[in-house]
Amino acid sequence: MKKIWIRDIKNYEGKEVTLQGWLYNKRSSGKLHFLQLRDGTAEIQAVVFKGNVSEEVFDLADRIPQESSVEITGTVKKHDRSKIGYELDATDVKVISIANDYPITPKEHGTHFLMEHRHLWLRSLKQKAILNVRHRIIKSIRDFFDSHGFTLVDAPIFTPNACEGTTNLFETDYFDTKAYLTQSGQLYMEAAAMAVGKAYCFGPTFRAEKSKTRRHLTEFWMVEPEVAFADIYDDMDLAEEFVEYIVQQVLEHNRADLETLERDISKLENIKRPFPRISYDEAIEILHKKGNDTPWGEDFGGDEETLISEEFDRPVMIHHYPMAVKAFYMKQDGNKAACVDVIAPEGYGEMIGGGQREEDLDKLLAKIKEQGLPEEVFDWYLDLRKYGSVPHAGFGLGIERTVAWICGLPHVRETIPFPRLMDRIRP
Ligand code: 4AD
Ligand code: MG
Repeated sequence: MKKIWIRDIKNYEGKEVTLQGWLYNKRSSGKLHFLQLRDGTAEIQAVVFKGNVSEEVFDLADRIPQESSVEITGTVKKHDRSKIGYELDATDVKVISIANDYPITPKEHGTHFLMEHRHLWLRSLKQKAILNVRHRIIKSIRDFFDSHGFTLVDAPIFTPNACEGTTNLFETDYFDTKAYLTQSGQLYMEAAAMAVGKAYCFGPTFRAEKSKTRRHLTEFWMVEPEVAFADIYDDMDLAEEFVEYIVQQVLEHNRADLETLERDISKLENIKRPFPRISYDEAIEILHKKGNDTPWGEDFGGDEETLISEEFDRPVMIHHYPMAVKAFYMKQDGNKAACVDVIAPEGYGEMIGGGQREEDLDKLLAKIKEQGLPEEVFDWYLDLRKYGSVPHAGFGLGIERTVAWICGLPHVRETIPFPRLMDRIRP
Protein backbone atom coordinates (compact mmCIF):
# COMPACT_ATOMS: atom_id res chain seq x y z
CA MET A 1 0.00 0.00 0.00
CA LYS A 2 1.39 3.40 -0.95
CA LYS A 3 1.51 5.66 2.10
CA ILE A 4 -0.17 9.02 1.63
CA TRP A 5 1.52 11.80 3.62
CA ILE A 6 -0.54 14.75 4.81
CA ARG A 7 1.93 17.14 3.16
CA ASP A 8 0.71 15.85 -0.24
CA ILE A 9 -3.00 16.06 0.54
CA LYS A 10 -3.72 18.68 -2.14
CA ASN A 11 -3.24 15.98 -4.78
CA TYR A 12 -6.24 14.09 -3.43
CA GLU A 13 -9.04 16.68 -3.37
CA GLY A 14 -12.44 14.95 -3.60
CA LYS A 15 -10.88 11.51 -3.24
CA GLU A 16 -11.19 8.99 -0.41
CA VAL A 17 -7.86 8.42 1.33
CA THR A 18 -6.55 6.61 4.40
CA LEU A 19 -4.10 8.60 6.51
CA GLN A 20 -1.98 7.34 9.37
CA GLY A 21 -0.51 9.43 12.13
CA TRP A 22 -0.89 10.52 15.71
CA LEU A 23 -3.84 12.23 17.31
CA TYR A 24 -2.42 15.43 18.80
CA ASN A 25 -5.65 17.09 19.86
CA LYS A 26 -9.40 16.74 19.63
CA ARG A 27 -12.64 18.47 20.51
CA SER A 28 -16.27 17.55 20.24
CA SER A 29 -19.59 19.31 19.85
CA GLY A 30 -22.77 17.23 19.81
CA LYS A 31 -22.80 15.12 16.70
CA LEU A 32 -19.26 16.06 15.66
CA HIS A 33 -15.78 15.07 16.78
CA PHE A 34 -12.86 17.06 15.40
CA LEU A 35 -9.69 14.96 15.40
CA GLN A 36 -6.35 16.73 14.84
CA LEU A 37 -4.04 14.35 13.04
CA ARG A 38 -0.32 14.84 12.47
CA ASP A 39 2.04 12.53 10.61
CA GLY A 40 5.28 14.48 10.94
CA THR A 41 4.96 16.12 7.52
CA ALA A 42 1.88 18.25 8.24
CA GLU A 43 -1.39 18.37 10.19
CA ILE A 44 -4.99 17.97 9.12
CA GLN A 45 -8.35 18.01 10.87
CA ALA A 46 -10.63 15.00 10.45
CA VAL A 47 -14.32 15.66 11.01
CA VAL A 48 -16.22 12.66 12.37
CA PHE A 49 -19.96 13.29 11.83
CA LYS A 50 -22.32 10.94 13.63
CA GLY A 51 -24.34 10.44 10.47
CA ASN A 52 -21.32 9.34 8.40
CA VAL A 53 -19.87 6.58 10.58
CA SER A 54 -21.05 3.58 12.56
CA GLU A 55 -22.03 4.04 16.20
CA GLU A 56 -18.90 2.14 17.36
CA VAL A 57 -16.60 4.39 15.32
CA PHE A 58 -18.35 7.53 16.61
CA ASP A 59 -17.90 6.35 20.22
CA LEU A 60 -14.31 5.31 19.59
CA ALA A 61 -13.44 8.72 18.10
CA ASP A 62 -14.53 10.28 21.37
CA ARG A 63 -12.37 8.01 23.51
CA ILE A 64 -9.01 7.90 21.70
CA PRO A 65 -6.37 9.42 23.97
CA GLN A 66 -3.90 12.09 22.81
CA GLU A 67 -0.83 10.80 20.90
CA SER A 68 -2.37 7.42 20.11
CA SER A 69 -1.44 6.28 16.63
CA VAL A 70 -4.47 6.05 14.39
CA GLU A 71 -5.62 5.40 10.86
CA ILE A 72 -8.40 7.62 9.51
CA THR A 73 -10.23 7.08 6.25
CA GLY A 74 -12.24 9.89 4.67
CA THR A 75 -12.84 12.22 1.76
CA VAL A 76 -10.48 15.16 1.21
CA LYS A 77 -12.46 18.43 1.20
CA LYS A 78 -11.25 21.96 0.55
CA HIS A 79 -11.30 24.01 3.76
CA ASP A 80 -9.88 27.51 3.41
CA ARG A 81 -9.72 28.27 7.11
CA SER A 82 -7.38 25.39 7.89
CA LYS A 83 -3.63 25.91 7.62
CA ILE A 84 -3.18 23.18 5.05
CA GLY A 85 -6.29 24.23 3.08
CA TYR A 86 -8.10 20.87 3.38
CA GLU A 87 -9.87 18.70 5.89
CA LEU A 88 -10.96 15.11 5.99
CA ASP A 89 -14.61 14.02 6.11
CA ALA A 90 -14.10 10.81 8.07
CA THR A 91 -15.84 7.56 7.19
CA ASP A 92 -13.74 5.27 9.39
CA VAL A 93 -11.32 5.55 12.33
CA LYS A 94 -9.03 2.76 13.56
CA VAL A 95 -6.58 2.73 16.42
CA ILE A 96 -3.07 1.42 15.67
CA SER A 97 -1.72 1.77 19.22
CA ILE A 98 -3.33 3.38 22.25
CA ALA A 99 -1.34 6.00 24.21
CA ASN A 100 -2.66 6.10 27.74
CA ASP A 101 -1.78 9.09 29.95
CA TYR A 102 0.58 10.86 27.53
CA PRO A 103 2.63 13.04 29.87
CA ILE A 104 2.76 16.20 27.75
CA THR A 105 -0.71 17.71 27.63
CA PRO A 106 -1.75 20.91 25.83
CA LYS A 107 -1.38 22.82 29.14
CA GLU A 108 1.87 24.61 30.08
CA HIS A 109 4.74 22.54 31.47
CA GLY A 110 7.97 23.64 33.16
CA THR A 111 11.31 23.42 31.34
CA HIS A 112 12.70 20.67 33.58
CA PHE A 113 9.65 18.50 32.95
CA LEU A 114 9.84 19.06 29.20
CA MET A 115 13.57 18.32 29.13
CA GLU A 116 13.00 15.06 31.04
CA HIS A 117 10.49 14.15 28.32
CA ARG A 118 12.54 15.48 25.43
CA HIS A 119 12.02 12.22 23.49
CA LEU A 120 8.26 12.96 23.46
CA TRP A 121 8.48 16.76 23.48
CA LEU A 122 10.05 16.59 20.01
CA ARG A 123 6.60 15.66 18.65
CA SER A 124 5.14 19.06 19.48
CA LEU A 125 4.55 21.30 16.48
CA LYS A 126 7.00 23.96 17.65
CA GLN A 127 9.78 21.48 18.26
CA LYS A 128 9.12 19.91 14.88
CA ALA A 129 9.45 23.33 13.25
CA ILE A 130 12.83 23.78 14.97
CA LEU A 131 14.02 20.38 13.70
CA ASN A 132 13.00 21.42 10.19
CA VAL A 133 14.87 24.73 10.37
CA ARG A 134 17.94 23.02 11.82
CA HIS A 135 17.87 20.57 8.93
CA ARG A 136 17.60 23.42 6.42
CA ILE A 137 20.52 25.27 8.03
CA ILE A 138 22.72 22.16 7.86
CA LYS A 139 21.72 21.47 4.26
CA SER A 140 22.44 25.11 3.30
CA ILE A 141 25.85 24.91 4.96
CA ARG A 142 26.74 21.81 2.97
CA ASP A 143 25.34 23.23 -0.27
CA PHE A 144 27.21 26.51 0.20
CA PHE A 145 30.63 24.97 0.66
CA ASP A 146 30.07 22.21 -1.88
CA SER A 147 29.22 24.82 -4.52
CA HIS A 148 32.15 27.08 -3.60
CA GLY A 149 34.94 24.62 -4.36
CA PHE A 150 35.40 23.23 -0.84
CA THR A 151 36.14 19.58 -0.08
CA LEU A 152 34.51 18.00 2.97
CA VAL A 153 37.27 16.54 5.15
CA ASP A 154 36.29 14.80 8.38
CA ALA A 155 38.21 15.71 11.52
CA PRO A 156 38.78 13.18 14.33
CA ILE A 157 36.78 13.16 17.57
CA PHE A 158 39.53 11.65 19.77
CA THR A 159 42.43 14.09 19.88
CA PRO A 160 45.82 14.15 21.61
CA ASN A 161 45.84 17.92 22.22
CA ALA A 162 43.65 20.93 22.99
CA CYS A 163 42.69 23.49 20.34
CA GLU A 164 40.66 26.01 22.31
CA GLY A 165 42.38 26.14 25.70
CA THR A 166 42.85 23.47 28.34
CA THR A 167 40.21 24.54 30.86
CA ASN A 168 37.19 22.88 29.27
CA LEU A 169 38.59 19.61 27.90
CA PHE A 170 36.74 16.32 28.25
CA GLU A 171 39.36 13.73 29.02
CA THR A 172 38.86 10.04 28.41
CA ASP A 173 40.93 6.87 28.82
CA TYR A 174 42.49 5.73 25.57
CA PHE A 175 44.08 2.33 26.22
CA ASP A 176 47.26 3.11 28.18
CA THR A 177 47.11 6.83 27.51
CA LYS A 178 44.64 9.74 27.61
CA ALA A 179 42.63 11.33 24.84
CA TYR A 180 40.46 14.43 24.68
CA LEU A 181 37.15 14.84 22.91
CA THR A 182 37.67 17.40 20.15
CA GLN A 183 36.92 21.06 20.88
CA SER A 184 37.37 22.04 17.22
CA GLY A 185 38.53 20.43 13.98
CA GLN A 186 40.46 23.55 13.00
CA LEU A 187 44.03 22.28 13.33
CA TYR A 188 43.15 19.30 11.13
CA MET A 189 41.46 21.57 8.61
CA GLU A 190 44.68 23.58 8.37
CA ALA A 191 46.43 20.37 7.36
CA ALA A 192 43.58 19.60 4.94
CA ALA A 193 43.67 23.07 3.34
CA MET A 194 47.32 22.43 2.43
CA ALA A 195 46.12 19.29 0.64
CA VAL A 196 42.91 20.44 -1.08
CA GLY A 197 43.12 24.26 -0.98
CA LYS A 198 39.67 24.82 0.49
CA ALA A 199 38.47 22.35 3.13
CA TYR A 200 35.63 22.17 5.61
CA CYS A 201 34.60 19.82 8.36
CA PHE A 202 31.22 19.49 9.99
CA GLY A 203 30.73 17.51 13.15
CA PRO A 204 30.14 17.42 16.88
CA THR A 205 32.55 19.21 19.20
CA PHE A 206 32.82 19.02 22.97
CA ARG A 207 33.56 21.46 25.73
CA ALA A 208 33.28 20.89 29.47
CA GLU A 209 31.57 24.25 29.98
CA LYS A 210 31.05 24.67 33.68
CA SER A 211 28.84 27.70 33.23
CA LYS A 212 25.10 27.39 32.86
CA THR A 213 24.26 30.01 30.26
CA ARG A 214 21.67 30.13 27.53
CA ARG A 215 24.40 29.92 24.88
CA HIS A 216 26.54 27.00 26.05
CA LEU A 217 26.19 23.28 25.45
CA THR A 218 28.80 20.65 26.32
CA GLU A 219 28.24 18.96 22.95
CA PHE A 220 27.54 21.17 19.95
CA TRP A 221 27.91 20.99 16.19
CA MET A 222 30.31 23.18 14.31
CA VAL A 223 31.17 23.75 10.65
CA GLU A 224 34.74 24.85 10.04
CA PRO A 225 35.98 26.05 6.65
CA GLU A 226 39.70 26.64 6.12
CA VAL A 227 41.22 28.30 3.05
CA ALA A 228 44.83 28.37 1.85
CA PHE A 229 46.17 31.69 0.51
CA ALA A 230 43.54 33.70 2.39
CA ASP A 231 43.85 36.54 4.90
CA ILE A 232 41.55 37.94 7.57
CA TYR A 233 39.66 40.10 5.05
CA ASP A 234 39.01 37.15 2.73
CA ASP A 235 37.80 35.32 5.83
CA MET A 236 35.28 38.08 6.64
CA ASP A 237 34.06 38.16 3.02
CA LEU A 238 33.47 34.41 3.17
CA ALA A 239 31.71 34.57 6.53
CA GLU A 240 29.21 37.24 5.45
CA GLU A 241 28.38 35.59 2.13
CA PHE A 242 27.90 32.31 3.98
CA VAL A 243 25.63 33.68 6.72
CA GLU A 244 23.53 35.62 4.20
CA TYR A 245 23.06 32.43 2.18
CA ILE A 246 21.93 30.36 5.18
CA VAL A 247 19.34 32.92 6.28
CA GLN A 248 17.97 33.44 2.77
CA GLN A 249 17.65 29.67 2.26
CA VAL A 250 15.63 29.32 5.47
CA LEU A 251 13.41 32.21 4.39
CA GLU A 252 12.86 30.62 1.00
CA HIS A 253 12.05 27.11 2.23
CA ASN A 254 10.89 27.30 5.85
CA ARG A 255 8.49 30.24 6.09
CA ALA A 256 5.73 28.07 7.58
CA ASP A 257 8.11 26.79 10.28
CA LEU A 258 9.17 30.35 11.14
CA GLU A 259 5.48 31.29 11.40
CA THR A 260 4.83 28.33 13.72
CA LEU A 261 7.67 29.69 15.87
CA GLU A 262 6.18 33.20 15.69
CA ARG A 263 9.53 34.51 14.45
CA ASP A 264 9.61 38.15 13.32
CA ILE A 265 10.47 37.39 9.70
CA SER A 266 11.14 41.02 8.73
CA LYS A 267 14.25 40.96 10.96
CA LEU A 268 15.61 38.01 8.97
CA GLU A 269 14.74 39.51 5.60
CA ASN A 270 17.17 42.26 6.49
CA ILE A 271 20.15 39.92 6.63
CA LYS A 272 21.96 41.00 3.48
CA ARG A 273 25.59 41.83 2.77
CA PRO A 274 27.57 43.90 3.58
CA PHE A 275 27.63 43.28 7.34
CA PRO A 276 29.12 46.01 9.52
CA ARG A 277 32.79 45.49 10.40
CA ILE A 278 34.19 47.12 13.51
CA SER A 279 37.52 46.70 15.26
CA TYR A 280 37.78 45.56 18.86
CA ASP A 281 38.79 49.12 19.75
CA GLU A 282 35.59 50.49 18.18
CA ALA A 283 33.57 47.84 20.02
CA ILE A 284 35.11 48.99 23.33
CA GLU A 285 34.10 52.57 22.48
CA ILE A 286 30.50 51.49 21.84
CA LEU A 287 30.43 49.66 25.18
CA HIS A 288 31.80 52.65 27.09
CA LYS A 289 29.27 54.95 25.43
CA LYS A 290 26.52 52.59 26.54
CA GLY A 291 27.73 52.60 30.14
CA ASN A 292 29.48 49.23 30.11
CA ASP A 293 32.99 49.65 31.56
CA THR A 294 34.80 46.60 30.17
CA PRO A 295 38.48 47.67 30.26
CA TRP A 296 40.53 47.58 27.06
CA GLY A 297 42.24 44.21 26.79
CA GLU A 298 39.45 42.08 28.18
CA ASP A 299 37.41 39.60 26.19
CA PHE A 300 33.68 40.14 25.69
CA GLY A 301 31.04 38.05 27.37
CA GLY A 302 27.38 37.54 26.55
CA ASP A 303 26.32 40.89 28.06
CA GLU A 304 28.83 42.86 26.00
CA GLU A 305 27.88 40.99 22.82
CA THR A 306 24.23 41.80 23.41
CA LEU A 307 24.95 45.51 23.95
CA ILE A 308 27.01 45.69 20.74
CA SER A 309 24.42 43.77 18.70
CA GLU A 310 21.75 46.32 19.69
CA GLU A 311 23.57 48.91 17.56
CA PHE A 312 23.10 46.96 14.32
CA ASP A 313 20.27 45.39 12.33
CA ARG A 314 22.40 42.52 11.00
CA PRO A 315 25.33 40.42 12.19
CA VAL A 316 28.33 42.52 13.19
CA MET A 317 31.91 41.41 12.59
CA ILE A 318 34.34 42.41 15.34
CA HIS A 319 37.94 42.01 14.25
CA HIS A 320 41.44 42.49 15.71
CA TYR A 321 41.06 41.57 19.36
CA PRO A 322 44.05 41.98 21.66
CA MET A 323 46.41 39.05 21.13
CA ALA A 324 46.30 38.16 24.82
CA VAL A 325 42.64 37.06 24.86
CA LYS A 326 42.87 34.83 21.79
CA ALA A 327 44.17 31.33 21.08
CA PHE A 328 47.83 30.49 20.35
CA TYR A 329 47.32 29.87 16.63
CA MET A 330 46.06 33.38 15.77
CA LYS A 331 48.18 35.46 13.40
CA GLN A 332 49.76 38.38 15.20
CA ASP A 333 49.17 41.88 13.77
CA GLY A 334 50.98 44.38 16.05
CA ASN A 335 49.56 43.74 19.52
CA LYS A 336 46.34 42.47 17.94
CA ALA A 337 45.24 39.15 16.52
CA ALA A 338 44.04 39.03 12.90
CA CYS A 339 40.83 37.40 14.08
CA VAL A 340 37.10 37.93 13.75
CA ASP A 341 34.05 37.13 15.82
CA VAL A 342 30.65 37.43 14.18
CA ILE A 343 27.98 38.49 16.65
CA ALA A 344 24.38 37.61 15.79
CA PRO A 345 21.72 40.34 15.94
CA GLU A 346 19.08 40.66 18.68
CA GLY A 347 21.37 39.48 21.47
CA TYR A 348 21.96 35.90 20.27
CA GLY A 349 25.69 36.20 20.88
CA GLU A 350 28.80 35.04 19.06
CA MET A 351 27.93 32.69 16.23
CA ILE A 352 31.30 32.59 14.45
CA GLY A 353 34.88 32.69 15.72
CA GLY A 354 37.82 32.59 13.35
CA GLY A 355 40.63 34.44 11.65
CA GLN A 356 43.97 34.21 9.96
CA ARG A 357 46.45 31.66 11.34
CA GLU A 358 50.07 32.26 12.28
CA GLU A 359 52.02 30.77 9.39
CA ASP A 360 55.50 31.57 10.74
CA LEU A 361 57.14 28.63 12.52
CA ASP A 362 59.17 30.62 15.05
CA LYS A 363 56.30 32.92 16.03
CA LEU A 364 53.96 29.96 16.44
CA LEU A 365 56.49 28.06 18.53
CA ALA A 366 56.98 31.11 20.75
CA LYS A 367 53.22 31.33 21.29
CA ILE A 368 52.94 27.65 22.23
CA LYS A 369 55.73 28.14 24.80
CA GLU A 370 54.26 31.41 26.08
CA GLN A 371 50.88 29.77 26.70
CA GLY A 372 52.53 26.81 28.44
CA LEU A 373 51.13 24.28 25.94
CA PRO A 374 52.87 20.90 25.57
CA GLU A 375 55.11 21.38 22.54
CA GLU A 376 55.53 17.69 21.80
CA VAL A 377 51.84 17.07 20.95
CA PHE A 378 51.87 19.93 18.45
CA ASP A 379 54.83 18.56 16.45
CA TRP A 380 52.57 17.50 13.58
CA TYR A 381 50.89 20.93 13.54
CA LEU A 382 54.26 22.66 13.43
CA ASP A 383 55.19 20.52 10.42
CA LEU A 384 52.59 22.50 8.46
CA ARG A 385 54.82 25.58 8.99
CA LYS A 386 58.00 23.69 8.08
CA TYR A 387 56.86 22.32 4.77
CA GLY A 388 55.51 24.98 2.44
CA SER A 389 53.72 27.23 4.89
CA VAL A 390 51.30 29.75 3.33
CA PRO A 391 48.93 32.41 4.69
CA HIS A 392 45.60 30.80 5.49
CA ALA A 393 42.41 31.57 7.35
CA GLY A 394 39.15 29.99 8.43
CA PHE A 395 36.38 30.06 10.98
CA GLY A 396 33.94 27.98 12.96
CA LEU A 397 30.18 28.54 13.00
CA GLY A 398 28.20 27.03 15.87
CA ILE A 399 25.03 25.39 14.54
CA GLU A 400 23.02 25.71 17.75
CA ARG A 401 23.56 29.44 18.18
CA THR A 402 22.66 29.91 14.52
CA VAL A 403 19.45 27.90 15.00
CA ALA A 404 18.64 29.87 18.17
CA TRP A 405 19.00 33.16 16.33
CA ILE A 406 17.13 32.20 13.16
CA CYS A 407 14.28 30.55 15.11
CA GLY A 408 14.24 33.26 17.78
CA LEU A 409 14.75 30.87 20.72
CA PRO A 410 15.93 32.24 24.04
CA HIS A 411 18.06 29.17 24.97
CA VAL A 412 20.23 26.79 22.92
CA ARG A 413 18.75 23.74 24.66
CA GLU A 414 15.83 23.67 22.20
CA THR A 415 18.03 23.98 19.10
CA ILE A 416 19.45 20.44 19.21
CA PRO A 417 17.33 17.26 19.37
CA PHE A 418 18.96 15.85 22.53
CA PRO A 419 20.93 18.59 24.30
CA ARG A 420 23.93 17.89 26.49
CA LEU A 421 24.35 20.43 29.25
CA MET A 422 26.41 20.52 32.42
CA ASP A 423 23.45 19.10 34.34
CA ARG A 424 21.80 17.04 31.60
CA ILE A 425 22.87 13.88 29.80
CA ARG A 426 19.43 12.20 29.44
CA PRO A 427 17.34 11.19 27.58
O1 4AD B 1 35.05 30.73 18.90
P1 4AD B 1 35.29 29.26 18.95
O2 4AD B 1 35.80 28.69 20.21
O3 4AD B 1 36.29 28.97 17.73
C1 4AD B 1 36.89 27.80 17.44
O4 4AD B 1 36.67 26.72 17.95
C2 4AD B 1 37.81 27.88 16.25
N1 4AD B 1 38.82 26.85 16.39
C3 4AD B 1 36.99 27.73 15.00
C4 4AD B 1 37.79 27.88 13.74
O5 4AD B 1 38.38 28.94 13.50
N2 4AD B 1 37.85 26.86 12.93
O6 4AD B 1 33.95 28.49 18.56
C5 4AD B 1 33.33 28.74 17.32
C6 4AD B 1 31.82 28.83 17.49
C7 4AD B 1 31.35 29.97 18.40
O7 4AD B 1 31.31 31.18 17.74
C8 4AD B 1 29.97 29.46 18.78
O8 4AD B 1 29.03 29.69 17.74
C9 4AD B 1 30.19 27.98 18.90
O9 4AD B 1 31.32 27.66 18.12
N3 4AD B 1 30.41 27.56 20.28
C10 4AD B 1 29.47 26.98 21.07
N4 4AD B 1 28.17 26.70 20.84
C11 4AD B 1 27.46 26.10 21.82
N5 4AD B 1 27.99 25.77 23.02
C12 4AD B 1 29.30 26.04 23.30
N6 4AD B 1 29.81 25.67 24.47
C13 4AD B 1 30.09 26.69 22.30
N7 4AD B 1 31.39 27.08 22.22
C14 4AD B 1 31.56 27.61 21.00
MG1 MG C 1 35.05 32.34 20.15
